[in-house]
Amino acid sequence: MGSSPHAQAHNEKLALLSQCHSGSPMGELLRLFWHPIATSASLSVGQTQAIRVLGEDLTLYRGDSGLPYLVGGRCAHRLTQLHTGWVQGENIRCIYHGWRYDGAGQCNEAPAEGPGVAEKVRIAGYPVREYCGLIFAYMGKGEAPEFDLPRKFAFEQPGLIILARRQIWPCNWFQMVENSLDAVHVSFVHLAGKVGPFGEAVTANIPSLEYCETDAGIRQIATRGKSSVRVSDWSFPNNNHIVTPGRAKDSPWVHRGVWNVPVDDTHTMKIGVYAIPSEGAEKDKATLDHFAKYGDYNPADYHDELFNEKKWPEDPSLQLTPAQDYVAMMGQGAIADRAHERLGKSDAGIVLLRRLFWREIERLKANEATKGWRRLEEVTDLPVQGAAE
Ligand code: FES
Ligand SMILES: [Fe+2]
Repeated sequence: MGSSPHAQAHNEKLALLSQCHSGSPMGELLRLFWHPIATSASLSVGQTQAIRVLGEDLTLYRGDSGLPYLVGGRCAHRLTQLHTGWVQGENIRCIYHGWRYDGAGQCNEAPAEGPGVAEKVRIAGYPVREYCGLIFAYMGKGEAPEFDLPRKFAFEQPGLIILARRQIWPCNWFQMVENSLDAVHVSFVHLAGKVGPFGEAVTANIPSLEYCETDAGIRQIATRGKSSVRVSDWSFPNNNHIVTPGRAKDSPWVHRGVWNVPVDDTHTMKIGVYAIPSEGAEKDKATLDHFAKYGDYNPADYHDELFNEKKWPEDPSLQLTPAQDYVAMMGQGAIADRAHERLGKSDAGIVLLRRLFWREIERLKANEATKGWRRLEEVTDLPVQGAAE
């Protein structure tokens, strides 16, 4: 696009999409939602973790009761990092001079200061809750919304093994969200290097695409001939609910919820749940062993190998598929320069996605109510016909 006033205004709108810090229009919009920020398994009782989410440095810790808490990253006194301190009961105590904070960020002891000081000191503190092996936080102002949108009926059915996983990629979150609404990429990216079950399942046929706005976000239907219809339900602002092939050729398909949560403008936490149908003790053990062996893979740790040597990892489902996506999305740059892209008719999902975000941002700016997104009412089967065979 040239530099006409119209083009300039459009480029400014495009630039809004990739921001996440507090005070930016998108940052404020994102702060109206619950976001997963860590796996439950990564935080034992009494442990702390330095964590960066939506451009804010924070401290995550688990109190003696087992409840997790999320407070500011630095002590208010002389700003040392709080995660280096100690968990005491449900509080966290700073390593430097012992100021102590509760799980809401309220200081309740400043030992060398005498009475009356602690109660005047407060750092950030955000509500958290655990669901499906993930710790979620609400980082907005005021009362947190009901914990409804992140829930999926498909994860709450009996007979499931629920596993959680987290990776951090050094690129902007919005290009990762856009990839969720880009069904064509599956026919190319997931054939790269070697064809995993995901690539086999969808074949290289270009799908015909349908997108529509739902109560939760966007439903995407990709049809590749009569034998393959792939449906995915994407929830505002950053969750994709998909069904993908399992560990082995005869394994049942797996419901997955993947969130792309901004760490900051150039890093994204790809965090999510695998809901794997139980197949009996022996096969379940193999599933857990498989996850233990390959689940820690993060393509960002193999960046040079992937980009320069085209060397692909061995495990198809837990390594290859994310590695293929990683190469495509990291190849767009740390923040895709959308002013220079050429969208086509197959980008209808991305166009709709951006339109929804801009609409919601405009409502927020005008102090109007934003859409009350809510989860879809029934268990959606997300049918995949024929493709699994
Ligand atoms: S810096 Fe934390 S108590 Fe002094
Ligand atoms: Fe993909």
